[in-house]
Amino acid sequence: HKRVAILISGGGSNMLSLVDSMIGDHAGRPCLVLSNDPEAGGLTKAAERGVKTASVDHRPFGKDRAAFEAELLKPLLASQPDLVCLAGFMRVLTGDFVSRFQGRMLNIHPSLLPKYKGLNTHARAIEAGDSEHGCTVHEVTAALDDGPVLGQARVEVKAGDTPEELAARVLVQEHKLYPEVLRRYCMGNKDPVLLP
Ligand code: GAR
Repeated sequence: HKRVAILISGGGSNMLSLVDSMIGDHAGRPCLVLSNDPEAGGLTKAAERGVKTASVDHRPFGKDRAAFEAELLKPLLASQPDLVCLAGFMRVLTGDFVSRFQGRMLNIHPSLLPKYKGLNTHARAIEAGDSEHGCTVHEVTAALDDGPVLGQARVEVKAGDTPEELAARVLVQEHKLYPEVLRRYCMGNKDPVLLP
């Protein structure tokens, strides 16, 4: 099996969708769920499923990203991952870190990239008057929310949508898209997945 490490910062619903998908004839298995926040709700949920967990609090490192990443690397490398999935991981990673996992690190971002890199994607899509929005899974490169697209799922933006309502509908699609992309990626298939 491909060993899949998953990095989270919060509730970890995308992480759970990935962990729960890696059963049966799936070519991947989770080897670690790692968080930058020791309190992240997803850590408990991963542990309940028997997945190894670890955390490295980013806060004591302040602006020293290199020092934080050096600590983050310890449990990550110890888990001997073949692939690394960012799933709601909210720290920007340096080029040095990313280059170690070139071609084997994925991210899910809540917009139809290249639109709305960064934060507050749902509010920005509504503000722009977009009729469609969605999520993207892509290979991670040194540039933020960039890199080859491996899949996208679209949702309709409805009149009067709040960012929260829109985010909830996008999240439903995230939970379909990311497992499907990972399933294929574990078998070496990088053809883009388009949902629905
Ligand atoms: C998801 O919507 C994910 O796409 C987004 O954060 C949420 C995490 O939810 N990621 C980013 O914004 C990355 N910059 P989850 O913890 O329940 O998976």
